[in-house]
Amino acid sequence: MFDSGVGGLSVLRALLAELPGTRFVYVADSAHAPYGERAAAEVAARCQGMTAHLRDAHAIDALVVACNTATAQAIDGLRANHPDLPVIGVEPALKPAAAHSASGRIGVMATRGTLGSARFAQLLARQMSAATKSLNFSCQPCDGLADAIERNDAAATMALCERYVSALREQAGPDMDTLVLGCTHYPFASGLLSRLCGAKVTLVDTGAPVARRTREVLGESVVSSSQAMTPILLTSGCTRALSQAAQRWLSVHTTAEPLPV
Ligand code: DGL
Repeated sequence: MFDSGVGGLSVLRALLAELPGTRFVYVADSAHAPYGERAAAEVAARCQGMTAHLRDAHAIDALVVACNTATAQAIDGLRANHPDLPVIGVEPALKPAAAHSASGRIGVMATRGTLGSARFAQLLARQMSAATKSLNFSCQPCDGLADAIERNDAAATMALCERYVSALREQAGPDMDTLVLGCTHYPFASGLLSRLCGAKVTLVDTGAPVARRTREVLGESVVSSSQAMTPILLTSGCTRALSQAAQRWLSVHTTAEPLPV
């Protein structure tokens, strides 16, 4: 699995809970984060390089693209280049949000890259055409927020969350009752986002559904064991920062290694 940085650890957390006997190899491309404000071709090239490394050096059975931006910009190319490899992507949870929302007023926080992608436009169009009630999605590009979470910068994370929640309130109005966290970094700011949004807004992310989907895809090759396997952590950036993030958010104690691509 990979992400632009530490955000995909929110997906790893769900995977470890769902599939404790599975060995996960987590790649953080922190030297190239954030992806959300990069050109799609550049993101796609990084994703191809990391996937090739995971196959060559770790003989993976399946790949989880633990990043909404990379899924939007690179998953089709990954599937085309690796037709024999099951590839599971992460997309903003519009469908679960639509099912949950009573008012139909839904906020979506994601990167500019995700919200501007053709894949997101199709996802939105599918939800609107399948809707059995009136739905209104207010989409907020959150420039800088993944980066602030990546750097564990509490002051910047707070300032950006305040700015984007207040922009969403303006756009969606007081009846917004559901907020989609459409970037895997954002669950690490969920306490703050919940406080800013208030108790009547439910936050929705995709960690648990992606973990269930991964179990389905792995099928009979799933090792059933309650004994947790320690994940392997690799990064193109600072190894200490990734080790510390895994310890802080997942209580995983292991030393991250440099990614050689
Ligand atoms: N965590 C990623 C996502 O889900 C990418 C954030 C970024 O690098 O901009 O979109």
